[in-house]
Amino acid sequence: MAKKTAASTSTEAQPQYKVEYREIQPYGTLKDLPIALDNNARKQSVETLNQVLVDTMTLRDMYKKHHWQMSGATFYQLHLLLDKHYEEQANLVDMIAERIMALGGISIAMAADVAEMTTIARPPRGREDVPTQLARLLEAHENILRQCHEGAEAADESGDDGTNDLLVSNLIRTHEPQVWFLAEHLAATELVRADR
Ligand SMILES: [Fe+2]
Repeated sequence: MAKKTAASTSTEAQPQYKVEYREIQPYGTLKDLPIALDNNARKQSVETLNQVLVDTMTLRDMYKKHHWQMSGATFYQLHLLLDKHYEEQANLVDMIAERIMALGGISIAMAADVAEMTTIARPPRGREDVPTQLARLLEAHENILRQCHEGAEAADESGDDGTNDLLVSNLIRTHEPQVWFLAEHLAATELVRADR
């Protein structure tokens, strides 16, 4: 009997990494899950949530851009604040994506798809001043908040309570205080009284 060489030995421990790539659920389709929601309700929520997802990923990444590219007298506090908001938005990204999967849909994941689908204006690669950075973030927040309010109402009407709750309890309740914290930096209040 011929002796097996190490290279020709096939064992269970050998990882079979040379696979033919295969998709098991096309984007845009829904799989059935026993969650007591009809297909139209799930389809509508998945579409809404995917748009909110790509815009949330864009806002999340804009927070990191501005965290890195911050400047000026309030550099340190804004550098820290924007990173805190980044982390909170990253948590929302995961919650939205997993809600889409729990509804039987497919969540957008990759940057190229996000770039194609986002409704948030693309900032330059270069560095912008502080008011511009904050104004861009505030505009993106309001864009997403508008989608959340409309999506929550539609989910309420369709009977998708879980999506309504996510949009209200997690998203709206995170975005609103973030807007407050950013917007206060754009009030031109005096730091020191100069008239005494
Ligand atoms: Fe950092």
